[in-house]
Formats: sequence, structure tokens, C-alpha cells
Amino acid sequence: MNENNRNDNSRTSASEPGTKSPQNPKATILVVDDEVELCRALSKLLRRNGYHVLTASNGEDGLVMLRQNEVHLVLSDLQMPRMGGIDLLKAGQVISPATEFVIITGHGTIETAVGAIKNGAYDFIEKPFSTTTTLNVVGKALEKQRLLAENQELRKRLEEIQGMDNIIGNSRLMQQALDIARQVAPSTATVLLTGESGTGKEVFASMLHRWSDRSRQAMIRVSCAALPETLLEAELFGYEQGAFTGAVGQRKGRFEMADGGTMFLDEVGEMTSTTQVKLLRILQEGVVQRLGGNIPLDVDVRIIAATNANLEQLVADGKFREDLYYRLNVINLELPPLRSREGDVVLLGNFFLQKFNERNNKHIGGFTASATEALSRYSWPGNVRELENAIERAVVMSRDDFIDSPALPRSVVDGRQRFDALSLPVGTTLKDAEMALIEATLESTNGDKETAARILGIAARTIYRKIQ
Ligand SMILES: Nc1ncnc2c1ncn2[C@@H]1O[C@H](COP(=O)(O)OP(=O)(O)OP(=O)(O)O)[C@@H](O)[C@H]1O
Ligand SMILES: [Mg+2]
Repeated sequence: MNENNRNDNSRTSASEPGTKSPQNPKATILVVDDEVELCRALSKLLRRNGYHVLTASNGEDGLVMLRQNEVHLVLSDLQMPRMGGIDLLKAGQVISPATEFVIITGHGTIETAVGAIKNGAYDFIEKPFSTTTTLNVVGKALEKQRLLAENQELRKRLEEIQGMDNIIGNSRLMQQALDIARQVAPSTATVLLTGESGTGKEVFASMLHRWSDRSRQAMIRVSCAALPETLLEAELFGYEQGAFTGAVGQRKGRFEMADGGTMFLDEVGEMTSTTQVKLLRILQEGVVQRLGGNIPLDVDVRIIAATNANLEQLVADGKFREDLYYRLNVINLELPPLRSREGDVVLLGNFFLQKFNERNNKHIGGFTASATEALSRYSWPGNVRELENAIERAVVMSRDDFIDSPALPRSVVDGRQRFDALSLPVGTTLKDAEMALIEATLESTNGDKETAARILGIAARTIYRKIQ
């Protein structure tokens, strides 16, 4: 095998006996210098210190080697005939973005060397060079290279994990939602994501951002429910020093941070009326004003809002500004509850099984027929999140090759409905309270009147009569 072959595993192997172990074991360094003697001396020094060394006697050959090998660091002479060190640096960064460059300079060329750093070189070494300085600079450059490469790798893996293919759903309703998402993602139109808790609003928000041409900038998420009013405003709009007790310095708000990108306002139904007014102003005028500041700052953000509350109802009750509602609800994307997504439960179940198999180092092959039936029959009031939790628990608990119904939560197997609490203000008439309870129960049984009647302990026909 050619010793220049890419992707050899030698970086992780032990260094040669008798050599000092470098910080970056068996990193590959390409030395480019037209002075043969110097090239040889440098290579010898680096090899003695455990590095894997390639050499080229001119810039063009250097580029060829960069293209053909995984090179972690290039040590290049500044002045060479035809292609000089700076040109090699510029071209090399394009060919191999993960490679670091250190430039070797002759006497009196410091200014050019500084220019090299401006062009992205890590550092420069002056001729005649000392062994210590050279090894020091090389070690540091390789350390930086390793960190950058590691981070890039992590980011790539995260992107793969969160890639659009991880939005699971073949049901008609889900395909419709995905179609709309695909259509509106590239525009700057404000999108309001609605749907019950756990239906995937946050997943869709990220996807809308990723599919837009703003995806190079950040998507900033703010949960309007998590913070009390003053903190939420400080968070959203930022503040100037002394704007309120505790505002010791000035701070950028999330809107400023999202400039050029996307602002995800989660649980938007929870905003107080003052915050609503300020938000409306940003949406209307495209300017933010820091708390305690008087200079309006232009921001270019795309807004995605989400809520599991019924905003129309909140508007009717006077709790949410109508004008703001219309501003946010330019395009409404309603995410269907899991119980109406026929077939998706099994699909998602298998997706989560795979995910938690990997995470827990298990090899569970699938679900038994009875488990599949229980999963499909259950109404999943907590939607995808509830399903995900149920599968995680089953994977962790299961010692068998397949997940059987006993590994699933009792409520799933019994077909029992999980109740959300019903809150009724004092002053509600008994008749209205009864009606509200019936409606809530019906909702939790997905409209199944027989089951609802059984839960309520009344005859099914009583329900029919009451809802007439
Ligand atoms: N279509 C999907 N494919 C894969 N995973 C999904 C899908 N939809 C939701 N999930 C997962 O389900 C969980 C809940 O989703 P998400 O947080 O987006 O719900 P939500 O609608 O924002 O809920 P809430 O209103 O409670 O905030 C997350 O772990 C998410 O990764
Ligand atoms: Mg959410």
C-alpha cells in the first residue's frame, strides 16, 4: 500500500518506538519547500517526533498531494518560484478546508508573513528556525486542526440525526402538513403552528427553518410560557444598562440575535398584553427597541409561532389581541393529533424502537402482534411525545427479542384514557360543568360515545340526549 494513502488508521496507532509522542499522534504534515536541504531537515525533525510527513518541492505538487491525501497541516515556504506560499494557502483552503497552514518565512519578510495570517494561516516560522519553536507551533496548529475537525464531525452527525428524513408520517393528514411546509418554508411568510401538545410543532418549526434560505443563520427559540413578563421582554427585546433593577450592562435581545434568521415564538398564547403590544410593533414595523433604549433597531427576522392553545378562543375572550392574531396567523399549519394519523403509530413506533435500541445498545427486533394492536388502538392524548416515552420505557425494560404488551404502559394496554385535568371557574352552573365534562371525555375517546359513557358511568343514550 502506498504510504500516502488516504484514511489510513495510523493516526490512532502508537508512535514508533524511541520517538517522542506528539500531541496529535501520527498527524500527517505536508512540507512544501523548493530548497531540498531544508525540506529534508524539516522532514527528519518531524518524523523523529512521530509525525507522518509528505514532501513537495513546489506549490503545484503540494496542491496535488493535498488533493490526494488527508493532510492535517501544511508547512510551506513563503517564497517559491511560480506558486508562492500565499497562493498555495489560498488554493489549499479551498481544496482541503480542514487543513491548517503554517508559513515558513525568510529574513525580513515579516510583513508578508502577517499577510499570510490574514489569509488564514495559523502562524509563521522564521528561518533559520529553532527545533523547539517549530515543534511548538506545529503542535499547536495540529491541536487547533483536531478541535475544528472534531466539531465539524459532531455537527455533521447532529444534522444527520435531525435531518428532514426524521419527520416520520405517511398518513394522509401528515403528508398534507408536510406538503404545506415544503411550500411555505422558502418564503418569509409568518407561520402559525397549531396542534395538541406533542404533535411535533417544534419539529416542524426547525424543519421550516432548515428548508428556508435562512438556514445558514440561527433559529432562535423563545418559550413565551417559561418566563415572567419582565424577563420575557428583556429576553426578546434586550435592554440598555439601567433599564430596570439588575440590568447592569446592555444586552442584545433574541430578536437582534435572530437577525437574518428565524425567530421561533413557542407557546405564543401565553404572552401578556403588554408583550403582545411590543411584539405587534416588531411585526408591523420590523424594528425592535431595547428596554430602556430609544433607538429603534432594524431587524430582518422570519417569525414562526406555535401554540397548543385555541388562539381564536383567546381572542374571543379578550385575552389575545385580534390584530396580533392576524399578523401571526398568515399561514396556519395545523398538526393533526396522532389518533387521526392512521398507520403512523406503527411507523413512529418502529422509528423510536430503532432510536432507543441504538441509544441503549439493544437489539430488539420489533413488536409482537398484541403490542402492535395495543399501540394502534390507544388514543395517545399526549401524541408523539407520549408514544416516544412509552417506547423508550419498553426498550429499556424489555429483556426479550420483541416488545410485548406487558412492556407497554398499563394505560396503553388497557385502552384506558389518560385524562387531562378539567378546570372550571367557580360560578359555573352544574349543567355547564356536566356538559364540559362530557365534552372533555368525548374528546379523550376520540368521539367514541360508548366508551365515553362507560367512563362517565352513564348510559350511551344519555350522552346522545345531552349533546343534542
Ligand atoms: N413526525 C415526527 N417524527 C419523529 N418524531 C417526532 C415527530 N413529531 C414529533 N416527534 C417527537 O415527539 C416529541 C414532541 O414533539 P414536539 O416537541 O415538536 O411537540 P410540540 O407540538 O412542540 O409539543 P408541545 O405543544 O407540548 O410543546 C419530540 O421528541 C419530537 O422529536
Ligand atoms: Mg413545543
